[in-house]
Amino acid sequence: MKIIVTGGAGFIGANFIYYMTEKHPDYRLICLDCLTYAGNLETLTAVLENKNFRFYKTDITDRAAVYKIFEEEQPDIVVNFAAESHVDRSIEDPGVFLNANIMGTAVMMDACRKYGVKRYHQVSTDEVYGDLPLDRPDLFFTEDTPLHASSPYSASKASADLLVLAYHRTFGLPVTISRCSNNYGPYQFPEKLIPLMIANARQNKPLPVYGEGINVRDWLYVRDHCIAIDLIIHKGTVGEIYNVGGHNEMKNIDIVKTICKAMGKPESLITHVADRKGHDRRYAIDPTKINRELGWSPETRFADGIQMTIKWYLDNTDWLERILTGEYKNYYQKVYDGHKIK
Ligand code: NAD
Ligand code: TYD
Repeated sequence: MKIIVTGGAGFIGANFIYYMTEKHPDYRLICLDCLTYAGNLETLTAVLENKNFRFYKTDITDRAAVYKIFEEEQPDIVVNFAAESHVDRSIEDPGVFLNANIMGTAVMMDACRKYGVKRYHQVSTDEVYGDLPLDRPDLFFTEDTPLHASSPYSASKASADLLVLAYHRTFGLPVTISRCSNNYGPYQFPEKLIPLMIANARQNKPLPVYGEGINVRDWLYVRDHCIAIDLIIHKGTVGEIYNVGGHNEMKNIDIVKTICKAMGKPESLITHVADRKGHDRRYAIDPTKINRELGWSPETRFADGIQMTIKWYLDNTDWLERILTGEYKNYYQKVYDGHKIK
């Protein structure tokens, strides 16, 4: 089995590559990533020399380069993680999100059509559904909830989802889509809530909480998301959407307090800052479908996952420091040997 994984030098893509390498050591994994600020090749160090792994520094919007790789690799499956992923950046500069997230998806699917790929899987997000009110804990996102995106990021992901479904209907492309809740775990770029708070708490820096910190997210340990995608690409039904989430809703302020407590830091580090524009109030996934049809449910409880995540960041301060200093951007040049990496 040959799988192209786009965005594999980012947080979830890298965790997926490590999960799949362990679970299916005989699979060939081909990573396409253009290494934006969020891509860090150092994250993939442990697989770079693996004979069943290949890294291509490629932008998924570069049609000619993508087709060339498909020609050479003849993949069976494509899993598209590559995307601009940070809501706050999408508010500053929507254009790059439209290009990477929508046009990139179109190019990858055109390549799948051209080269007869057996499955195209789109890694989407629960943010495409918009948000839920804080005072209605009985409401959840199901796969039938209408798309109602709030930010340029989520609108670009919703647009890509529509395009994926259109390619299935119009061209018969064998697609699946997963819409997952907020992930946390190793290798997450320290601009997202959990790694940012761990990184700042470690240095006794202020912990910036947007507004009152009462917004709710449904947190899932990244490995559980990888398990879900592995199940969907092997056993999921073509043309279907699967929501992925673990019924682990928490207010931002409670997440930050949990991190303070676990790291032995005072809550006085918490600093309330201006709220995000258009800030989604609550995300909550109903994972009934993936549970019933594919037997998926989360394996890691938040209480354990957050301890493992904090420990990972504290054990990998070199990785973190190289990001904080910007040095990680030089890694690609340093390891480039013309063989493993194109
Ligand atoms: P990330 O920002 O950590 O990584 C994104 C990766 O994609 C980076 O390595 C980057 O270099 C690469 N990339 C970006 N644009 C590219 C392009 N044009 N061509 C090639 N590579 C490109 O993101 P993440 O948190 O790992 O998210 C991965 C996917 O999962 C995204 O599609 C995101 O929408 C989705 N998702 C994320 C979460 C979450 O909580 N992080 C939850 C649900 C869904
Ligand atoms: P984030 O990790 O950016 O994920 P998303 O916006 O995609 O859910 O943010 C998670 C929540 O934490 C969100 O409600 C915004 C909030 N937040 C803060 O309060 N402070 C911060 O510094 C960041 C990055 C996020």
